Amino acid sequence: MIRDIVVYPDKRLKLISKTVEVFDATLHTLLDDMYETMCAKNGVGLAAIQVGVPLRVLIINVPSDEGEGAQPKENTLEIINPQILWKEGVEKFQEGCLSIPGIYEEIERSKRVKISYVDREGTPQEIEDDDFLAIALQHEIDHLDGKVFIEKLSYIKRKKFEKEWKKREKK
Ligand code: CO
Repeated sequence: MIRDIVVYPDKRLKLISKTVEVFDATLHTLLDDMYETMCAKNGVGLAAIQVGVPLRVLIINVPSDEGEGAQPKENTLEIINPQILWKEGVEKFQEGCLSIPGIYEEIERSKRVKISYVDREGTPQEIEDDDFLAIALQHEIDHLDGKVFIEKLSYIKRKKFEKEWKKREKK
């Protein structure tokens, strides 16, 4: 089922999401719904708080070049209770967010990350990346800590964004 997306500046986006302790059908439905919602909105990643659920759950599905941008469900990374084990390097990348639709800004993050997490069954996993996935992981993990990407903009760019956003909200 496609769920409603929580849109900036909704206060729920500032919540610190809670650790998942139960790996039951409710969690699996949440993950399935998040996948449907992300695909319906043409996103590549989604955190549970973006559908109003304050749990440390995120999904990422990087469209494959060969698949002409398709995002088959089996390619979805389902990441629960992630911990960043290490990060290094610096990378700038143009980011967007389903909770701040239509806004794209260049954001500086670490180039490489390694994280540990558990999957939908609660089984421990690890993943490491130095490409787009590394950026997406950092963006989505920020959501679990109540942060959105525009908070990383310079003071002047942030001001510009807020002005632009208010103009759009009026429409
Ligand atoms: Co986002």
